[in-house]
Amino acid sequence: MPHIQPVKKAIIPVAGLGTRMLPATKAIPKELLPVTDKPVIQHVVEEAIAAGINEIILVTRSGKEAIENHFDAHFELETQLERKGKDIVLTSIKNIIPPHVQVVSIRQPEALGLGHAILCARRVIGDDPFAVMLPDVLVMPATNPGTQNDFTNMVNRWDETGHGQIMVEAVPDKDIHQYGIADMGGAALNIGMTSPLSAMVEKPKTEEAPSNLAVVGRYVLPAKVMQILKDTKPGSGGEIQLTDALDELLKSDALDAYRMASATHDCGNKLGYLKANIAMALEHPELKEGLQTFLNGLAKID
Ligand code: G1P
Repeated sequence: MPHIQPVKKAIIPVAGLGTRMLPATKAIPKELLPVTDKPVIQHVVEEAIAAGINEIILVTRSGKEAIENHFDAHFELETQLERKGKDIVLTSIKNIIPPHVQVVSIRQPEALGLGHAILCARRVIGDDPFAVMLPDVLVMPATNPGTQNDFTNMVNRWDETGHGQIMVEAVPDKDIHQYGIADMGGAALNIGMTSPLSAMVEKPKTEEAPSNLAVVGRYVLPAKVMQILKDTKPGSGGEIQLTDALDELLKSDALDAYRMASATHDCGNKLGYLKANIAMALEHPELKEGLQTFLNGLAKID
């Protein structure tokens, strides 16, 4: 079997304008809105680091510098907290990025689509395999003992097989047109399992969709995708689509769909964002009890 290079780099595209979250996101990047006590993007970066990623590549734009600042040191704040002996909170801001992890950023000068955003990172990726993690999508961490995060499972399957991995979940028919959809060639795909993809299609009409398995924003991919993206023409919505490049890759390389076991929340829209906060807070050691009592009280009012 050929040598499989481990995945150590993750691209997080953060150049979006966050229009679905206005007015909250007029001056604040949507990626920095908090879910419980951390910005959405910090949850995603922690998910990456837990899976062994050690280089985070932000594809960003002007006006979103606060994201880079969040992952940088803050000398004045750290000095103040140290002086006041606020050790716990000091540790929480100092250790967001552990020393073995590097965060780099690249600019996406024009909003030409997800595929284009990924292509902007090609020089940093070089010949290495890479992950793509969409920061709107919050994937709930595994909570059952003995289970691992879905993204960690995907990275492990890449290490075992060298096949790219695309995270999917079943969505209601009415939502199919909002997603990249997996064509499994008619094969069933059970939760927590992988199976070879036959094709992928971006935002099909429900009646033309090959399945109800939607791409949810976590990918582990070979470097070859970058070569394909260079020649990928605008597709759905007039944008350069990652899904179209992956469909092209499938003509020469194997790609597997991984059906996630956990739950996701779309923090890029208002209701999804609220649900993410509640779901995460119900897992948070300091918040869960108080929130549960509050929710029980609300349920009784009805
Ligand atoms: C992007 C991808 C799509 C995927 C979705 C997941 O679409 O192009 O394939 O299903 O993210 O959130 P967007 O939501 O940026 O339109």
